[in-house]
Amino acid sequence: MKVLGIETSCDETGVAVYDSEHGLLAHALYSQVELHAEYGGVVPELASRDHVRKLLPLIDQCLGESGLTRDAIDGVAYTAGPGLIGALLVGAAAGRSLAMALDIPAIAVHHMEGHLLAPMLEENPPAFPFVALLVSGGHTMLVEVRELGDYTLLGETLDDAAGEAFDKTAKLLGLPYPGGPALARLAERGDAGRFAFPRPMTDRPGLEFSFSGLKTHTRNLWLEHNEDQSARADIAAGFQKAVTETLAIKCRRAMQQTGSGQLIISGGVGANIALREKLTAEGEKHGWNVSYPRLEFCTDNGAMIAFAGCKHLLAGERQDLEISARARWPLDQLVSAPRLA
Ligand code: KG4
Ligand code: ZN
Repeated sequence: MKVLGIETSCDETGVAVYDSEHGLLAHALYSQVELHAEYGGVVPELASRDHVRKLLPLIDQCLGESGLTRDAIDGVAYTAGPGLIGALLVGAAAGRSLAMALDIPAIAVHHMEGHLLAPMLEENPPAFPFVALLVSGGHTMLVEVRELGDYTLLGETLDDAAGEAFDKTAKLLGLPYPGGPALARLAERGDAGRFAFPRPMTDRPGLEFSFSGLKTHTRNLWLEHNEDQSARADIAAGFQKAVTETLAIKCRRAMQQTGSGQLIISGGVGANIALREKLTAEGEKHGWNVSYPRLEFCTDNGAMIAFAGCKHLLAGERQDLEISARARWPLDQLVSAPRLA
């Protein structure tokens, strides 16, 4: 089955063609980073309008690269939530309509399920069941994954998401948007041991996260030391280490609690090299297998949506003709309400 995947939930237009027999045939991504940079963050209305401009040419480009014509596609998958509602509606309208015009099935995909399945696009893919750490700009969650569509939320953030904490901390250190990768680059030059940072919510049981206190702690440190040239990189390094160690402690707990031997990490912050190194080392120490998507599939992309959609279509799921999207859509509601009504 050949599935066209469309991702437009935030500030990247992503398109891909996934074939259940031959794997990923093509993928294309257009990032809106430059469009939003002057505002220091994503402007939702500008995001929607840019998806309108870029999506159809990107679909043509991707089909061209896959060597397929539209008629060879067996299904269309699109991100239906969670995300920016205007942006989501662009992909949902285009995807649903294209499927109707071609008289093939469509499927609405949950964006976080796309992230969760993304490591399966790689060689030696992880097999169900596993524990997933999903760390993106909007979410930080630990999920117990039993099989396709069977997800239990083990814990999530009470305030900022991990990526949001990276972005806000980067901004206060004067780094350009998008802050996460910039902060990670600055941290490479810093001494992570110079300043003490808390490991939030690790002193009590549970799998919940909280990053807003860490952000305030970082702000106070920076206000105290902002005339010291080397302090910026040292603060960035200390912050990154605090986030990665906190995530690692919670992963360890989740693995113990579930008895799982397979951990996957995905979402934009999963592209952070320090986090990948830390969790790989934890895996070696505790005997778990740890899997990640390649770096470009940690952040938003069409490949993960094509892949997730293909799995659901092969399971016989189909979307009705309504074009619908949800800004909020709890991941574990996929079980009780498998598809959008
Ligand atoms: O998954 P994603 O592309 O979009 C959402 O679904 O939110 O994640 C984007 C987030 C941003 O907060 C970005 O700063 C962060 O992932 N990010 C990183 C890195 N690359 C992206 N954070 C830390 N280190 C990185 N290398
Ligand atoms: Zn994402």
